[in-house]
Amino acid sequence: MEALLVSYGIEWANLLVRWLHLITGIAWIGASFYFVWLDNSIRPPKPGSDLEKKGVSGELWAVHGGGFYNPQKYLVAPGELPEELHWFKWEAYATWITGIAMLFIVYYFNASAMMVDKSVANLSGLEAVGVGIGTLVVGWIVYDLLCKSPLGKKEGLLGLLMFVFIVAVAYMLTHLLSGRAAYIHVGAMIGTIMVGNVLMVIIPGQRKLVEAMKEGKSPDPIHGRRGKQRSVHNNYFTLPILFIMISNHYAMTYTHAYSWLVLAAIMAAGVLIRHFFNLRHKGKVSIGYPIAGVALLLAVAVAIAPRPVVPVAAAAAVPAADGSVAAAAAAPAAPDFAKIQAIITQRCASCHSDKPTQAGFATAPAGMMLQTPDLIHQHAAKVFQRAVQTKDMPLANMTQMTDEERSEIAAWFQAGAK
Ligand code: HEC
Repeated sequence: MEALLVSYGIEWANLLVRWLHLITGIAWIGASFYFVWLDNSIRPPKPGSDLEKKGVSGELWAVHGGGFYNPQKYLVAPGELPEELHWFKWEAYATWITGIAMLFIVYYFNASAMMVDKSVANLSGLEAVGVGIGTLVVGWIVYDLLCKSPLGKKEGLLGLLMFVFIVAVAYMLTHLLSGRAAYIHVGAMIGTIMVGNVLMVIIPGQRKLVEAMKEGKSPDPIHGRRGKQRSVHNNYFTLPILFIMISNHYAMTYTHAYSWLVLAAIMAAGVLIRHFFNLRHKGKVSIGYPIAGVALLLAVAVAIAPRPVVPVAAAAAVPAADGSVAAAAAAPAAPDFAKIQAIITQRCASCHSDKPTQAGFATAPAGMMLQTPDLIHQHAAKVFQRAVQTKDMPLANMTQMTDEERSEIAAWFQAGAK
């Protein structure tokens, strides 16, 4: 009873923290989209106008929610500091904090089930957690050094190197952790870099600007430039990280033999599509970018499409010594349902049932229950998908399903799942 309450409590923590993560993430990414749009859309004031004399480098007019808005950008800072200045940082910090909390709730507290895949690497749960946390720390250090190195001045090259680095991390993680955990840790690393940019570069730079103004000195524009660079990086990270946040619903991506490449292609598509919007705000419509992005997504979809499972006995029609083909090479009989039900009850229903017996599960994961014949028939396609095609169920193969059992399910499903 106590264990049941604990896992029920964790379920609620999961719900509340995930909800909060989504809310703060929307606030943060929404603000990021808005400010990059703003920056790309403002136009310089007329030469010699009052605005230009005041130090305004660009402005625009917008209409929203029944009013007109007229934001103006001062490249370094206005002549005097306004009384009230809005900062944007808590969206970022709160998204990261709730994201890390999600890592603990979903992955680290249950690492041997959620992070370890013995067919990938023989790690213990604790080692897998170490790999996960290490990735976040090392990811930030490498990224920050890259930006501060002389390469940091070459925007295009820096972008390319960052992409290669992230893909290398994806490669490494997909060879150490379960596919799902590998994907989410690439995302968590990117998220950590993004929040590191806010905490360590953008906000301190802005503080220096404000302090210099208070002291009546003219602020060093380097802080503005550095902050801008990091905020542009964050902007390009948004679409890839949003995909990774939802990736755990799409087993076809993270269970593929080349899951790191699948992830690389989907992230690249996100960057291309984001780039289109950034250019469009500046008035340039380069339709080639989103076309390339969508083409890349289609190519991934085709490349990872499931192959039909060939029944083992199909190759049995071997000619006999006299050259005649034995007529007896009949198609394998579909296993009868009682057998399938026994397999599913043994291997799946300990979690997927109205009353899971597996420790740590208070309710059926993803709401999927398989404890009766009707339910098994109802979910036959999904059972086939996860037990035969992606093979990521049973979770971490905790119930030790065998390959023969997977073949039996395949044969049963392909014979019509009766
Ligand atoms: C140790 C617990 C556990 C066992 C055993 C297990 N699963 Fe799961 N299953 C999960 C968890 C957790 C999820 C939710 C996360 C996910 O979708 O990856 C899930 C999700 C699923 C889903 C996705 C449902 C949906 O609608 O999104 C399917 C399908 C599934 N399991 C099938 C199976 C099958 C078939 C078996 C037996 C061969 C099985 N599972 C055994 C834990 C388990």
